[in-house]
Amino acid sequence: MRFGSTRSCVAALALSLAGCASPTHELDGGGLDVSALADSGAPPAPSYPPAGPVNTGILCARQGDDLVRDIFCGSEATPIGNLSDLQRVLGIDPDDIEVDRGASVTGHSTALATRSVSAVNPRVVFVRIEVATIDQEALALAFVRGEQNVELVVRDRLSRELSFYLVSYAQTCNAEPQGCNPGDLLTPETELGWQDVTLLDEEDLKNTVLDCRQCHQPDGPGTPKILRMQELKQPWTHWFDSRMKGGIALLDDYFAMKGDEALAGISALRMSGTRAAQLETFVRTESGNSGVQPNEFATMRIEEEVSTSAPGQPRDNSVPGRSAAWRAQYEIAMRGGSINVPYHDVKVTDPLKLAAATAAYQSYLAGDLSKNALPDFRDIYPDDPQIQAELGFTTEPGLDGAGVLRQACYQCHNPRLDQSLSRAQFTADLSMLDRQQRDRAIERLLLPPDDPKAMPPPRLRTLTTEARERLIELLR
Ligand code: HEC
Ligand code: HEC
Repeated sequence: MRFGSTRSCVAALALSLAGCASPTHELDGGGLDVSALADSGAPPAPSYPPAGPVNTGILCARQGDDLVRDIFCGSEATPIGNLSDLQRVLGIDPDDIEVDRGASVTGHSTALATRSVSAVNPRVVFVRIEVATIDQEALALAFVRGEQNVELVVRDRLSRELSFYLVSYAQTCNAEPQGCNPGDLLTPETELGWQDVTLLDEEDLKNTVLDCRQCHQPDGPGTPKILRMQELKQPWTHWFDSRMKGGIALLDDYFAMKGDEALAGISALRMSGTRAAQLETFVRTESGNSGVQPNEFATMRIEEEVSTSAPGQPRDNSVPGRSAAWRAQYEIAMRGGSINVPYHDVKVTDPLKLAAATAAYQSYLAGDLSKNALPDFRDIYPDDPQIQAELGFTTEPGLDGAGVLRQACYQCHNPRLDQSLSRAQFTADLSMLDRQQRDRAIERLLLPPDDPKAMPPPRLRTLTTEARERLIELLR
């Protein structure tokens, strides 16, 4: 496989273990097997367009039988040169909305792309429920522009377990000296001209920042894998839905910026027909635990409390809402009891940043602004440190070192997760840490954010100077 320095930021993060940065990385307890990857008979650079998928010899040699393997591990490589190709080979018709298949779209995510998603760069989840009588297999495909990857879950035909996969790709801009700009990443461009299409499975990713199991198998090895939708019940707070007050506010922001642009094959017309309930039904039907969500976001109650405290909500979020029900859930997460709780308000956008991004995109659509001059509208969240913490991007202002350790690190460094990985050599429990572990943690905390070994991983969380200093002081 080829993992040059020109790969996308996502791939570089995911695959930093595989060579971008540190071939000498301590991978004692498993993880991405660097030497095996390097020696796996690197295929030639795929042609452009379309690129054939990289058939990762190691992944395919592992046990498993499912839809994704049919495509990537078959004897003939299926050409995949864009998102639409991938959808087609998986049997997804983006415009097809039925009871057992369709799409749900969210304007806020607590998953891997948490810092890219908003109403104007939404995350689309295509779902299909298993219907044995017509040989229809369970599948979900999640996509957000800017990440240069696609997340998949399917059901293994033999073990009947859920299997998670990441398909990553590069664009021509990845190989250019200046790299990819927002115009390459956040417009329909990123759905086209895929190169270096690469498949990775849970096992490949288990000791990396992109570890799927950390969230989809939160109780660790041997326990059931779960599907996630934290806002599982109506009114599904952050999901597009033309029948919900919040959903309408999000759709309005989306259309104000995007006009009639299609997203992942979903036409503007179809976008208003996407339903949050589609993912709810999928999660309830296909989860071993009938969809039970750890620390489930109390949609109805939180929305009520938020609009009582700030009557402009959800449409006008210039005054942030307050909700005691939400705060109680947030505190559970803050103490390490769950993954991030979604934000209390429907919108996660800063009104001024949203207006500026909308104006810019509109002039790009009108042909008055070049694609290369588009601003990075992934940075669209309020800068207020309290709101940043509530969004899950940083820790609660004012926390002491022990509090920071818990909120920033425990999610990935806890005794429930796979203890055979090098990740487990650090536990976010002060009483368990010897001198050497403390020193190694301090070292990681001092790395610049673009270092793939920086902790906490900036993709999911960053620390303010104050929080970092308090944590380091505690560890000294
Ligand atoms: C930080 C936690 C986290 C990690 C890590 C994570 N996910 Fe998720 N995932 C979520 C959440 C939360 C959702 C619900 C939708 C949302 O918030 O975006 C989700 C939704 C999904 C869905 C849609 C089906 C469903 O469960 O709702 C797929 C597919 C998916 N994730 C695949 C993956 C893959 C593949 C990986 C690893 C490469 C991964 N996820 C890693 C949290 C995570
Ligand atoms: C999103 C998950 C995630 C979060 C959050 C996270 N880490 Fe990590 N951490 C990892 C992974 C994956 C590894 C293994 C890969 C590596 O060494 O970079 C790791 C490795 C480490 C190691 C090296 C362990 C060893 O001895 O090999 C240290 C130390 C560490 N993390 C400290 C921290 C601290 C301190 C925080 C909180 C401020 C934190 N991490 C937050 C995922 C995370």
